[in-house]
Amino acid sequence: MPATRQIDVLVSEVGPRDGLQSVPRTMPTTVKHRWIAALAASGTREIEVGSFVSPKALPQMADAEEVVREAVKIEGLTVLALAPNLKGAERAIAAGVHKLTFPVSASREHSMANIRMTPEQATDQVRQAVAYCASLPAEQRPSVEVGISTAFGCAVEGRISEDWVMQMAIALVDAGAASVGLSDTAGCANPIQVKRMFLRLRREIGDKAGAAHFHNTRGQGLANVVAALDAGVTTFDASHGGLGGCPYAPGASGNIVTEDLVFLLEAMGLRTGIDLERLIAARAVLLEGLPGEPLYGSVPEAGLPKGFCYAAARGKP
Ligand code: COA
Ligand code: ZN
Repeated sequence: MPATRQIDVLVSEVGPRDGLQSVPRTMPTTVKHRWIAALAASGTREIEVGSFVSPKALPQMADAEEVVREAVKIEGLTVLALAPNLKGAERAIAAGVHKLTFPVSASREHSMANIRMTPEQATDQVRQAVAYCASLPAEQRPSVEVGISTAFGCAVEGRISEDWVMQMAIALVDAGAASVGLSDTAGCANPIQVKRMFLRLRREIGDKAGAAHFHNTRGQGLANVVAALDAGVTTFDASHGGLGGCPYAPGASGNIVTEDLVFLLEAMGLRTGIDLERLIAARAVLLEGLPGEPLYGSVPEAGLPKGFCYAAARGKP
């Protein structure tokens, strides 16, 4: 286990939400509890444990309340959940989440297909959720984060205007979002675009610029991470085992693989606080809940290289 509790980069695990929502089978609730506990025990600080959407739209997430109630018992873990609307935010807060994340899509067509709201209506839901949070006692008040989906391009609409993405980011900050990140939902971003957009995001909204969320659909995920690091991003979403897949690209993985991301960061001298061996071992729990599910990642396949040393053990570069 890395020697220090200090970290340089926050790896935000999204497997129990983004991963599981893309797998048609439902992981049993008790296995979700044990999987989240195993991820936390490996040193993971933040986990998006589920989403408070309509159970008709996503039966895999129907147990979100139970999952949150169990996860918040884990000491030191920040428990995040996705909500698309005020109703989802109310459910998540009642269950005790620490942070809410709203997906607001830059693509009008994707937004309508996914949550049946325009980007403007989704932004208004953020505003209402923030107002609701402000009415609560401080100890029950989660922070509200936003990830702008399809920020780098959309599978339905194709190119998305960068000016529009930035306008949305400004509007979301105005709506009260604590941070606004950029999500490559369709897995079509490239490193030059990633660096340009995150630098611009920081110019537009300063320290409210949030997480990078990359999918590895075309194998560009870790290259995009390096570009985002260059632009000053310090929070990255990733999925344990690359769980997720992509319905439009058979054989392609979903989110970037947490194990490979942690290896990249630690090898570059950036402390994550995560123990890779324990993280890789936690795959066994995931597979108990989804037997035979394909998992991805080069580091779990190849193992750690001889002489590998965690960033904390080496000191800062
Ligand atoms: N949680 C649970 N139920 C919800 C809900 C939520 N957050 N939001 C709405 N509902 C229920 C309503 O109560 C209503 O129930 P009823 O039919 O029993 O009366 C029903 O869903 C329809 O409500 P409505 O406000 O008209 O929603 P909609 O049909 O326009 O759907 C969403 C909007 C956002 C609820 C739905 O599209 C959804 O859940 N999408 C999520 C898709 C997703 O998870 N994508 C991946 C993550 S980004
Ligand atoms: Zn995603």
